[in-house]
Amino acid sequence: MVAAVVAAATALHLLGGVDRPGVLAAVMAALAAVTVGSARWGLAHSARGSLRPVERLRRELERLTEDEAGGRVAVPATGDEMERLAERVNELLARLEIEVAQRRGFVADASHELRTPITGLRTRIELALSAPDDGDAEETLRQSLVDIDRLHRIVEDLLVLARLDSGDATAREPVDLGALVEAEAASRTPPVPTVVKAEPGIIVAGNRQRLGRAVRNLLANAERYAAAHIEVEARADGDRAVVVVHDDGPGIPPADRDRVFERFARLDPARSRDKGGSGLGLPIAREIALAHGGTVQVADGAYGARLVLRLPLLAR
Ligand SMILES: Nc1ncnc2c1ncn2[C@@H]1O[C@H](COP(=O)(O)OP(=O)(O)O)[C@@H](O)[C@H]1O
Ligand SMILES: [Mg+2]
Repeated sequence: MVAAVVAAATALHLLGGVDRPGVLAAVMAALAAVTVGSARWGLAHSARGSLRPVERLRRELERLTEDEAGGRVAVPATGDEMERLAERVNELLARLEIEVAQRRGFVADASHELRTPITGLRTRIELALSAPDDGDAEETLRQSLVDIDRLHRIVEDLLVLARLDSGDATAREPVDLGALVEAEAASRTPPVPTVVKAEPGIIVAGNRQRLGRAVRNLLANAERYAAAHIEVEARADGDRAVVVVHDDGPGIPPADRDRVFERFARLDPARSRDKGGSGLGLPIAREIALAHGGTVQVADGAYGARLVLRLPLLAR
């Protein structure tokens, strides 16, 4: 019985580390399997009485699946494995509830983001059609293209996020981050002078396209906010590869340094939208870094915004 409960707790713990859609179903399936398994084990090895708590937990979980989110199982004050298992189950249920709420919020935000340019597009076309002679048809089309570009960017970014969320395993190869940063910076036409200092031979294991996207997202932000110049740096620091993108714009206040990584979060929505931002640039950069065992953070700097990407160096 003890072994079965420990196995159940371990299975729950493993599943608890997975932050993916479908995890609710997976947890429920695992619990069902574990409780049935432990019931069989118990029948073979112990008195019938010791099975009652397992059976009760199983029934409670069955009821919860049908009742959807919000519920918890009763925690018996028995001071044993059953109490700990029930507590662990409740911790997982609480996390699932938060995740479900976040996903609902994300879908609502995404719909809102898509609706705004669609409404603009529709209004503009209706106006042009209602008075075909006194409008500038070319201007209408030009503005419509701006909206369509924005829609396109949002949808592209949503697709990238969906792929990252699904945890798809992309092929890893040694990537020279210094060379990648040089190439990404060279392919842009920044509005202000950009100085790039990239050490060669900073090798990480990763997906070149995705790492390139993460770097591009940081560069695009710096270009949007910089006042007069941007500095980009790629170097090794201990066992980490570090990319720093530093601009001399208004910066990101310390209180907002986590919020800017939330999906669709913008400190200045009007400005971000005007410049075609989707509000997904930093969240995507962060997901890419996480998928590579790294981080992206807003760091302290004497001026402006300093975004730092850190990735594990491939042992040389
Ligand atoms: N370099 C920067 N300087 C100042 N603010 C920034 C910078 N980078 C990001 N931000 C803030 O973080 C928000 C989120 O960035 P991001 O996810 O890239 O979305 P977007 O660029 O589409 O607005 C931006 O809207 C902006 O408020
Ligand atoms: Mg951006």
